[in-house]
Amino acid sequence: MKPFEIKKGIYWVGAVDYDVRTFHGHTYSANRGSAYNAYLIVDDKIALIDTVYGPFAEELIEKIRSIVPPEKIDYVIANHVETDHSGAMPALMKLCRKAKVFGTSKCKEGLNRHYYEDWNFQIVKTGDKIPLGKRALTFIEAPMIHWPDSMFTYCPEEKLLLPNDAFGQHYATSERYDDGVDQCELMDEAAKYYANILWPLSSIILRKIEEIQKMNIPITMIAPSHGIIWRKDPMKIINSYASWAKNESKKKVVVVYESMWGATKKMARKIVEGISDAGISAKLFEIAQSDRTEVIKEMLDAKGYLIGSSAHYNDMLPDMAGFLAFLKGLRPKERSAAAFGSYGWSGGAVAAIENTLKETGISIAQSSISVKYSPDGNELKKCYDYGKEFTGKL
Ligand code: FEO
Repeated sequence: MKPFEIKKGIYWVGAVDYDVRTFHGHTYSANRGSAYNAYLIVDDKIALIDTVYGPFAEELIEKIRSIVPPEKIDYVIANHVETDHSGAMPALMKLCRKAKVFGTSKCKEGLNRHYYEDWNFQIVKTGDKIPLGKRALTFIEAPMIHWPDSMFTYCPEEKLLLPNDAFGQHYATSERYDDGVDQCELMDEAAKYYANILWPLSSIILRKIEEIQKMNIPITMIAPSHGIIWRKDPMKIINSYASWAKNESKKKVVVVYESMWGATKKMARKIVEGISDAGISAKLFEIAQSDRTEVIKEMLDAKGYLIGSSAHYNDMLPDMAGFLAFLKGLRPKERSAAAFGSYGWSGGAVAAIENTLKETGISIAQSSISVKYSPDGNELKKCYDYGKEFTGKL
């Protein structure tokens, strides 16, 4: 893909990664690939906003070279240390040794610990500006959105916000703008990204949105460092972030279970029947066979969670334990949950699930339901009623 002029003299020079399927190690399933976005501003001074993942360094450099010789870059803005954005820096900086690098103090520390290079680094803080000629760049520190070093860059003359990871999506497409892609796909990927990466940082994100609103800076385009650029309606993604960050949810139940020989599965299905007959939407997942990243996305706007497992060594089954460990890290708030499961002799699964949910900060809305070995007709009716009753707690 060639460079793409997003505003006069401002070019997308990133890379689309159609092949990647796991991100952040294996913690994120990037089913639609990803894109590492970098932006080149050609003014009296030439500035590059972020780079790309290391394996795409040559692609970045060739795109830049098709516009200006990389040696002429004056400024490199490092909004974020993580290697999907800084990985190409060593190769690029070899070509523009005199370029000044701008970033937060944590960014300087982080880049030092990643690359051990002696780049000409200038630490910047919120409100600091660098003139480029006809335009200027302003910096807004954004610690923990989502690393301590994170920063947004803003170009007032273009009303352009470059927020790095924030408002991004792992979404590979030949299109560069929100108006060129399927809106359901786009919002699905944006929600998945928020749920799996940013959810635990919601209070910080909400404060940052409020801070930017108080700064009263006009924004007509948001160009994140993953996925597509928001130009049709940038407020759509800002409002979605505000809603997710406020923990807004709807009457929807996500039922997640793991079953050894099918008894917990039978319970789960009857529970879902009860929820559905109460007029509430339910999503059902067997966790060992499901894409965890997608399950978490479904939990983002659901008020209720029902978690089930067969008993295993006085505990829940291991895939469910791993799933709940991940969920605990995301710290969802203002959600209601309950536990269910089958057992053979001593049990232990539902108690273990409840303990983990409590540690996560999720309230237990009703007592657990357990079945010895396999549920009979009467017990399946109880599961049905259990699901129905749970909807009343939402
Ligand atoms: Fe896309 Fe935090 O890196």
